[in-house]
Amino acid sequence: MQNKLQKLKQEIFDKLNEIKHLDVLRDLEIKYLGRKGEFTKILRCLKDLTEQEKKEIGKLANEIKKELVEKFEQIKNVIAKNTVEKKNIDVTLPGEKISKGHLHPITIIQNELEDLFTSMGFMVLDGPELESDYYNFEALNIPKHHPARDMQDTFYIDQKNKDGEYDLVMRTHTSCVQIRAMQKYGAPLKCVVPGRVFRSEATDVRHEHTFYQFEGLMIDKDINLSHLKGALEITAKHLYGLETKVRLRPKFYPFVEPGVNGEVSCFLCKGNGCRLCKNTGWLEIFGAGMVHPNVLKAGNIDSKKYSGFAFGFGLSRLAMLKYNINDTRLFQSGDLRFLEQF
Ligand code: FA5
Repeated sequence: MQNKLQKLKQEIFDKLNEIKHLDVLRDLEIKYLGRKGEFTKILRCLKDLTEQEKKEIGKLANEIKKELVEKFEQIKNVIAKNTVEKKNIDVTLPGEKISKGHLHPITIIQNELEDLFTSMGFMVLDGPELESDYYNFEALNIPKHHPARDMQDTFYIDQKNKDGEYDLVMRTHTSCVQIRAMQKYGAPLKCVVPGRVFRSEATDVRHEHTFYQFEGLMIDKDINLSHLKGALEITAKHLYGLETKVRLRPKFYPFVEPGVNGEVSCFLCKGNGCRLCKNTGWLEIFGAGMVHPNVLKAGNIDSKKYSGFAFGFGLSRLAMLKYNINDTRLFQSGDLRFLEQF
């Protein structure tokens, strides 16, 4: 048994001296010292020996094993060192090109707008994409069975509450975060909410079932429509240039009163009329208005003391205009030929 052990040790040492690669070393370690390895097999036979033999041979076996483990470690370090040195030495090899990623066009616009609004003291907030019927509709002054629900085709979650109603939806807009923000922070309040929204719509060049919106909300004492117009003008000039004009035209949204459609002068033809603005000189960008008293109430804010404005627009549509993209579906196509242009 002693001879067998010494012979095996010598055999392993001879092999170790020839090894140049770490993976070969690893294989050898498994072959001899692994759970089913040859050295381990010999150790298992110790149990059949007499007490005296067990003592002597066991001691020897442990010493040899220790030596082997140390030798393996030593060779491992030598190979690793050589590999590093070799890498350092050959400076003539061409470098490995690391391909750099870049931001998605919608993220670029979102970041620009977040910077603009945080510079004016607005918080950037987030909210759940799977939303309750209450936050998405009811708290925003759109009761059940109200025809205004038809304005936003909704994905309902196939799960009824205890009253037998479907009360979970994929949020159809970012306006639900208005209520969450009011309830959490109270008044005064200034926040913007970028985020993904969902509508059960047939898709075409201007419509996606999943797209991005950007919401703005400001609540304080004596806030009026001129503050709203100012905020929209700053946004439009930031996006499309200082000469850009904004006009407001009445539009119905249940959660604002009065409600407006914010239009910006066409940046392509400077308001003279072209294909982009369908010869009107104006582009419809913002849905906006003064926050409805019922909405303030749902957000636990006293509408006699405070007033506010809110606006919301499609980030995808802004990116389409800014980069002259003719199909909104490209944003989520994952097509590198499209994405690599930004
Ligand atoms: C709203 O969603 C309101 N929550 C906006 C708002 C906020 C009004 C605060 C007043 C106060 P609307 O349904 O119009 O409004 O959608 C806003 C924008 O989202 C549209 O102007 C458009 O740019 C974009 N949008 C709407 N549907 C789609 C779609 N299917 N695909 C891509 N963009 C869309």
